[in-house]
Amino acid sequence: MPNILTAIDSGKFAHKEERISKCKALELFDTGEIDKGEPGSFSSLAHIHEKLFEDIYDFAGKMRTEDISKGDFRFASALYLEESVSEVEALSQSTFDEIIKKYVEMNIVHPFREGNGRSMRLWLDQILKAELGLVVDCDRVSKDDYLHAMEHSPISEVEISCLLKESLTGKIDDRDVYMDGIDASFAFEGYNTFKTKELD
Ligand SMILES: Nc1ncnc2c1ncn2[C@@H]1O[C@H](COP(=O)(O)OP(=O)(O)O)[C@@H](O)[C@H]1O
Ligand SMILES: [Mg+2]
Repeated sequence: MPNILTAIDSGKFAHKEERISKCKALELFDTGEIDKGEPGSFSSLAHIHEKLFEDIYDFAGKMRTEDISKGDFRFASALYLEESVSEVEALSQSTFDEIIKKYVEMNIVHPFREGNGRSMRLWLDQILKAELGLVVDCDRVSKDDYLHAMEHSPISEVEISCLLKESLTGKIDDRDVYMDGIDASFAFEGYNTFKTKELD
């Protein structure tokens, strides 16, 4: 059982983590780094993860070496993670349906110990932007609907596909849309103490 001091410490850590990673997310946009790298590749995802979390996690940008699960779902075995990542990388990404399938499969792999959700939604936008000239406006997606759809996604992609399709926008280079999207995406994971705009 955590005592009250460790609980306060972990609360402080979460706030600091949120502040640093949101600043890093904004930096990715402002430096144009978010548009570099090969959309859909693991190296792009690893780069986003490394950048967001380099000052927070010692495993930033690195594949996990332990098995992890959420709810009743066990993500890909750590033993075969490289093979699983390569299989997902090789999936086509020309249509919206293919891109969502790829996103769902990368989520099933869950290559990092922590930070998969936050990094992977930026990775998804890189692909959508490059292939279709669109991004997801997370601010228009309900957290409960999103998490429910992702929990169900290893069985069927229909729910997450419908949800994200409704929230597509052509405002791919709009800084305000990006910042609000970061806030919403981070709020899906419980980080909702600051607005990215306040850190600007
Ligand atoms: N039961 C589940 N089955 C499959 N995927 C899930 C489940 N629960 C959550 N997810 C996915 O995992 C993501 C969270 O992964 P995590 O590594 O904790 O990322 P972060 O640290 O950014 O919160 C969620 O955004 C969602 O996409
Ligand atoms: Mg998490």
